[in-house]
Amino acid sequence: METKTVGVLGAGTMGHGIAQILIRSGYTVYLHDLSQQFIEAGAGRIGKGLNRDVEKKRLTAEEREQALRRLKTTTRVSDLGGTDFIVEAVTENFEVKAGAIRAIEPYCRPEVIIASNTSSISITRLAATTGRPDRFIGLHFFNPVPVMKLVEVVPGLQTSPETADKTMRLAESVGKTPVRVNDGPGFVSNRLLMPMINEAVYCLMESVADAKGIDDVMKLGMNHPMGPLELADLIGLDVCLDIMKVLYEGFRDSKYRPCPLLERMVSAGRLGRKTRRGFYEYAGA
Ligand code: 3HC
Repeated sequence: METKTVGVLGAGTMGHGIAQILIRSGYTVYLHDLSQQFIEAGAGRIGKGLNRDVEKKRLTAEEREQALRRLKTTTRVSDLGGTDFIVEAVTENFEVKAGAIRAIEPYCRPEVIIASNTSSISITRLAATTGRPDRFIGLHFFNPVPVMKLVEVVPGLQTSPETADKTMRLAESVGKTPVRVNDGPGFVSNRLLMPMINEAVYCLMESVADAKGIDDVMKLGMNHPMGPLELADLIGLDVCLDIMKVLYEGFRDSKYRPCPLLERMVSAGRLGRKTRRGFYEYAGA
């Protein structure tokens, strides 16, 4: 069965970006979120992203209109029932993800693959909550989704080779470079990235340098496009903390303990760009 329509669960930072690249690549997308407000915010960001593509002459105005016509939004999960492939991109929490997958699965045809955009949660464990562990897989995009080339494709213990191949092809068809990695806490990307960010927060907490100093070291000394604290603000400090907790609990190794300052920032609601304040302040972000 050829994939023509994709259901995306969650219209937030990752979900809206995933929907945007899918409609640009010719897929019809049913984008679901719990409230009309979330849906409108996500669809608004998709519209802005495609306008940018037109300004930059990567799309014609007509192509943008065609892409937008392929975007269907809904707050009813049953509307995703006729789609050929599901991408789950809800909050990075096992219970929330398992709940969203449980809600959609009864509407999906037996052959439909469900892919989770989890950044760190075990694919094997999520797959075990479904009735189709062989058609369940990780499909991990990077923020900002339209810009970053990588997608980690993460088969769980029971994922079939056909599911993995089909998911690799889907990732390639939206212009990404998929890298297949095995299921382990944080996969490869966040197992390496998050301890670096967490260590940067320790440096800040211990006054080794201020935020700008820490970021400058990594930008100017290591050629990173963004410093770790700027990047944490882009990703969301709550997401960084959730991933550190998955690493800490998954490996049961104290080297992954979340930095207390990161925990305090999240408790204070300083989540980064999305709340206009994290390690930096953002006017009208
Ligand atoms: N959303 C959409 N597009 C964005 C964007 C955003 N938040 N931020 C920047 N862009 C686009 C810009 O519009 C521009 O595109 P254009 O061709 O239309 O001009 C392009 O990215 C380059 O942006 P700029 O010229 O303004 O700035 P930079 O050259 O500094 O690039 C960046 C910005 C691409 C964000 C770059 O700084 C970068 O690569 N940073 C690192 C990002 C990164 O590491 N992401 C991975 C995070 S980890 C993750 O997502 C995993 C998860 O599990 C936690």
